[in-house]
Amino acid sequence: MQKEFLWGGAIAANQSEGAFDVANRGLANVDLIPYGEARSKFLLGENIDLELSDNYYYPSKNGIDFYHTYKQDIKMLAEMGFKAFRISIAWTRIFPKGDETEANESGLLFYESIFKECKKYEIEPIVTIAHFDCPVHLIKKIGAWRDRRMVYYYEKLCRTLFERYKDLVQYWITFNEINMILHAPFMAAGLTFSKTDDIEQIKYVAAHHELVASALAVKWAHEVNPKNKVGCMMAGGDYYPYACRPEDVMEAIDKNRKNLFFIDVQARGEYPQYALKELERKRIKIPFESGDIELLMQYTVDFVSFSYYASRVAASQNSGLKETAGNIVKSIKNPYLEVSEWGWQIDPIGLRVTLNTIWDRYQKPLFIVENGLGAVDELTDTNEVHDGYRISYLSAHIAEMIKAVEIDGVGLIGYTSWGCIDLVSAGTGEMKKRYGFIYVDQDDFSNGSKKRYKKDSFYWFKQVIESNGQNLDWKKEN
Ligand code: BG6
Repeated sequence: MQKEFLWGGAIAANQSEGAFDVANRGLANVDLIPYGEARSKFLLGENIDLELSDNYYYPSKNGIDFYHTYKQDIKMLAEMGFKAFRISIAWTRIFPKGDETEANESGLLFYESIFKECKKYEIEPIVTIAHFDCPVHLIKKIGAWRDRRMVYYYEKLCRTLFERYKDLVQYWITFNEINMILHAPFMAAGLTFSKTDDIEQIKYVAAHHELVASALAVKWAHEVNPKNKVGCMMAGGDYYPYACRPEDVMEAIDKNRKNLFFIDVQARGEYPQYALKELERKRIKIPFESGDIELLMQYTVDFVSFSYYASRVAASQNSGLKETAGNIVKSIKNPYLEVSEWGWQIDPIGLRVTLNTIWDRYQKPLFIVENGLGAVDELTDTNEVHDGYRISYLSAHIAEMIKAVEIDGVGLIGYTSWGCIDLVSAGTGEMKKRYGFIYVDQDDFSNGSKKRYKKDSFYWFKQVIESNGQNLDWKKEN
């Protein structure tokens, strides 16, 4: 791997910071997504309430208290040798309602302090501007991204961030998993729907607004600092055809295109023909305004980033085929793969496949910004966590990633493992679904000391970074 490869980890504001009402922070969509059975309804946004209710527990109110512990947490990441740390900005810390003319100074200071802390240890901050969050005030006022005015508010957020952190941040990601808007529209973009809404139409209109906003972010980022590098981000994982039946192959092509659609726009600069045809067939109208086509073409991203947890399977006839869980979206079960405790398929080679697909398609630097195993961990009496299963998962994925770079010639700039410190799960709201190298002592309802403990994987990942990916073995004496 190249010397400057960005090894590290990733977290998101709403799953880690907590302190949801501290220092003028406003309420965001992500704060309103409860733990428990009701969660899935809120992810979708159909007929939901936009007020906090005493009937629910809201995990993002507390996160893992990163708002107060970030110095100690970053110190531990530095001890592991992190070269990069991906975090996201809570929009409502900067603009509590979203439409203010002045930014909230205490919010700006908070992130400034995080970035300075990273710099102290020579850790490159990778900053996601919107990791699913959207101010509730803007949802109530204009219906979030369904309204074009969101572009303006987002642009304002971006310009504020680019100017303020000009000397501290160079890597920016415009929207986390932009394709998630199709599958979890309230969580991903603050969209809510009434019974009479044309949901498909609204989702694609909102996505168009995000695409325009993303292009503007590229424009401003480069204007403020030509060294800025701006990336798009997708929930990745190729679809395999279930069988070599031509119909299954065609189905897989179709599903892969649905995933890649927005990235095609952000990386190649225009709506692809297959998407235009499909939108036309479905009678979905995209509200192109004058200048949009040129803007999308002129301001494509500098790099393409993605999350990879699993590959998926597509079949032209699903009936009788077993399904299994995945990152929000279910998949047909691949008979050749094991699954995690949460039913997510485990496919290290799929990471190499996905890297090759994306590289061949865009020929732009790639960045794996999420990958990992959500698992139940046990803290021993001596405060250790023996997470050999996580080491196996990660080492197998990293080995395939290295093959993609060294054998296939894929241009990859970094790898940030998801949830490097245990945090709240986006899909389930659970704390017990842990991804970290660092154990956080708290349960699903935020009970616990919140103390941090190093897992076995902590020492293992330190060794991986130290050896620049050459030493993936795990020696127990560590
Ligand atoms: C991605 C998100 O979808 O997957 C993260 O960007 C999320 O926010 C991660 O946490 C893992 O999913 P989950 O549901 O296990 O938290």
